[in-house]
Amino acid sequence: MKEKILIVEDDPAMRLGMTHFLKSHGYEIKSCDNGIKALELIENEIFEIAIFDLKLPGIDGITLLQKIKHKNPNTSVIIITAFAEVKTAVQAIKEGAFDYLAKPFSNDELLLIIERALKFRNLEIEIEYLRKKVRQKEVFEGLVGISNAMKEIFEKIRVVSQTDVPVLIQGESGTGKELIADAIQRLSNRKRSPYIKINCAAIPETLFESELFGYEKGAFTGANETKKGKLELANEGTIFFDEIADMPLSLQAKLLRVIEDGIVYRLGGKEPVKVNLRFIYATCKNIKELIKTGKFREDLFYRINVVPIYIPPLKDRREDIPVLIEHYLEYYVQKYNKKNIQISPSAYEALLSYDYPGNVRELKHALERGVILSKDGIMDIKNLPEEISGLINVKTDCLKEYISLKECLENFEKSLILKTLKDCDGKKVEAARKLGISRKTLWEKIKFYKLEE
Ligand SMILES: Nc1ncnc2c1ncn2[C@@H]1O[C@H](COP(=O)(O)OP(=O)(O)OP(=O)(O)O)[C@@H](O)[C@H]1O
Ligand SMILES: [Mg+2]
Repeated sequence: MKEKILIVEDDPAMRLGMTHFLKSHGYEIKSCDNGIKALELIENEIFEIAIFDLKLPGIDGITLLQKIKHKNPNTSVIIITAFAEVKTAVQAIKEGAFDYLAKPFSNDELLLIIERALKFRNLEIEIEYLRKKVRQKEVFEGLVGISNAMKEIFEKIRVVSQTDVPVLIQGESGTGKELIADAIQRLSNRKRSPYIKINCAAIPETLFESELFGYEKGAFTGANETKKGKLELANEGTIFFDEIADMPLSLQAKLLRVIEDGIVYRLGGKEPVKVNLRFIYATCKNIKELIKTGKFREDLFYRINVVPIYIPPLKDRREDIPVLIEHYLEYYVQKYNKKNIQISPSAYEALLSYDYPGNVRELKHALERGVILSKDGIMDIKNLPEEISGLINVKTDCLKEYISLKECLENFEKSLILKTLKDCDGKKVEAARKLGISRKTLWEKIKFYKLEE
């Protein structure tokens, strides 16, 4: 069966003529004589093409066009128009109609325009499909990246998720360590078993042990009933120790024993509980340094660092920045129900050249803010956080060309003073205090850099 076409035409001879002709060319035709009936038809069926006159009984052609496009943007609309109405026909095209046919027209012209519309429609669908595919390639289990570093990480995730080996994920804050841990869990054959996350930096030392190991009723005052610890709750599944470097030393020894024996004792309990666990760890700290200063047990480090995954900071894999921008732009445009948003060239340049000390998290927040503040479909540089838009980008300014140290320091001083003044709403007393200089010095510098305005 060929494509489905809807014909709305109040002139019976014309309606029947078109229907008959197009049916003879294998198309499936539904027809009606007014706009209201047409609306009923599009409610229940999907048409590849809709053909109708702009002047219709019941509802005007432009409104019908809008409703059809709203219902299914992929339906191609062909408008039939009298010569005198060409202006309205042009408006219809602006509203999304594919083309118009001026009366009178021949059957061949009708066929030609339909074939053209279908060809165009298929192309559009194909482009959309390809774009989606490209986008899918850039996203692996919620992780966006095209840099070699990220591709290697994706590959490592694929491999380690099929085993039970311990994984240690390292990277600065906001680089996606938790996303990686989640991906490994999701791809593993433990995906339907418990997945317990423990943030070692967030649990006070005094509660840590009972959190991990649980306790028997009466083990200490307040232990009114037996409670399972996280290690036990995660049995048969995966346990993720986030910020492992912050685990207190006393507990490191206890964890080491669990890793080695696979046995847990609840506080106050004598019965060994056997646990089968997959361990994932993450940290943004340099554990080797902590070992040197005695803050982390070396023997534990060797146990957890079986497969290391290191995520470089975003500034060291800049190829990922544009795809992350695209990804999160689309995400927030949808989330905040905005229509397409264009990033202005200056904003785009700022986004591309920034160093992102907060890594992907910072980029993500910048785009969220940019989308919210954008106006008239444009995200401008002033919609970005100040660190990114940068009054004067000191670093690149100095590196662009070989300027003297004095000039570079002056640039820096000037931008710092400007930023502080801005932060303090121009209040000089406050700005001087923040900068750690006297009011008089601040005054002199304002005059020197001509910052009065
Ligand atoms: N490659 C990526 N693709 C898409 N989003 C990412 C990526 N990396 C990080 N993010 C997003 O950035 C934010 C921070 O990621 P995540 O919490 O995994 O980082 P982290 O390394 O655990 O940070 P922290 O050390 O501060 O806990 C999340 O919102 C996450 O969705
Ligand atoms: Mg984290």
